[in-house]
Amino acid sequence: MKVTVFGIGYVGLVQAAVLAEAGHHVCCVDIDQGKIDGLKQGIIPIYEPGLEALVKKGTREGRLLFTTDAALGVGFGELQFIAVGTPPDEDGSADLKYVLAVAQTIAQHMTGYKVIINKSTVPVGTADKVSAKVAQVLAERDSSLSYAVVSNPEFLKEGAAVSDCQKPDRIVIGTQDLQAEQKMRELYAPFNRNHDKVIVMDVRSAELTKYAANCMLATKISFMNEMANLAELLGADIEAVRKGIGSDPRIGYHFIYPGCGYGGSCFPKDVQALVRTAEQVGYQPQLLQSVEAVNYRQKQKLFQFINRHFKGELAGKTIALWGLAFKPNTDDMREASSRVLMESLWAAGAKVQAFDPEAQHETQRIYGDRDDLLLVDSMEAALQGADALMICTEWQPFRAPDFSYIKEQLKDAVIVDGRNLYDPAQMKAQGFAYYGIGRGESVTTF
Ligand code: UDX
Repeated sequence: MKVTVFGIGYVGLVQAAVLAEAGHHVCCVDIDQGKIDGLKQGIIPIYEPGLEALVKKGTREGRLLFTTDAALGVGFGELQFIAVGTPPDEDGSADLKYVLAVAQTIAQHMTGYKVIINKSTVPVGTADKVSAKVAQVLAERDSSLSYAVVSNPEFLKEGAAVSDCQKPDRIVIGTQDLQAEQKMRELYAPFNRNHDKVIVMDVRSAELTKYAANCMLATKISFMNEMANLAELLGADIEAVRKGIGSDPRIGYHFIYPGCGYGGSCFPKDVQALVRTAEQVGYQPQLLQSVEAVNYRQKQKLFQFINRHFKGELAGKTIALWGLAFKPNTDDMREASSRVLMESLWAAGAKVQAFDPEAQHETQRIYGDRDDLLLVDSMEAALQGADALMICTEWQPFRAPDFSYIKEQLKDAVIVDGRNLYDPAQMKAQGFAYYGIGRGESVTTF
């Protein structure tokens, strides 16, 4: 099939590359000329395992095209994906200006039937707004062309985006238009072989499904972080509790890892957006508000540990920091807990010596050159001359470090571990002051 994808960000590029691999012809449209020029040469603007090879293959085989020419894009595909950003407004609602601008462009240039597919995470009711925009522009053109607007949310995880997209566990299609449903089924047929993953529903339910999924996952994390904070105060170990409750299949082991708060481009934004949506329809979403409040507090936790350890005297200290990205296998720093930590450390007069396998460049881009931030190129280099070690991201190499080397390098044998990578008893035996999240042992060191 011929498909056009507007917005070659994270979601759009992965979707386009995976559809091209499945045999479709995909035209990618973005307003960023530099990005499009780079992609034509196989330069991928984001780090995502497997993506570069797919993009290069699709381009080489002529199934993946890149352009800034929107009219060309509209003419190309019968299916038109909208995958542009929906950044939060000042009040946390999703800003739809880019989505509606694409809707307008499609309506201005279309010359035949189009299925317009919302792939961006958009508030419930957006498909109706897109539909109204298209209708308005077509009326201005005095055109009676037909179209359908479909909601088709993505559920991919950064770091595993390509495989999530290649092997989706569900394909949600929100439409009541039979012709559009048929086209969508045809599009996804290559991904729907072993058992039927397509779930067709009305547009508003599909839009809400995406928010409900992310808010449910964020709720699990905030719940566990709350339990972890309680465990600390009660002298219990959250890691034992996690295993104890995860073994109940109704609860499950997934997404119950306590830590230094959830980050990324989805959970914080989507929880806030659903809170705003609820308020707009006159409902006080108390649970969702708490999910966000718990996460906000959790992101301050690592600083509180280190500040308490050094009795409020952080000025002039150097902190080794392992992990900057909001989670492993990505270079994404959006809403990363490391940012809250670093900004608090800087405000207290400490210096940060940080290492991340992928996010150094992004950190440099965000913070620029500053005397109190040194980005180094190895775990070991981060430790040199540092007073303490702190961990924000559970990258694999951080899981089994050489503890005697760490101890030799640090001025004070203290580790603040925001991801519970180590065993508190072992850390204690090796002479470290160790602060994990919700570990009974942590409490004894206060
Ligand atoms: C998420 C959803 O998983 C995905 O389905 C949706 O489409 C987009 O949002 P992503 O933002 O890539 O994906 O990251 P995810 O792996 O879900 O992690 C989000 C955050 O939660 C990270 O900061 C992670 O460290 C944190 N997390 C996750 C926990 O603190 N504990 C957990 O148990 C799981």
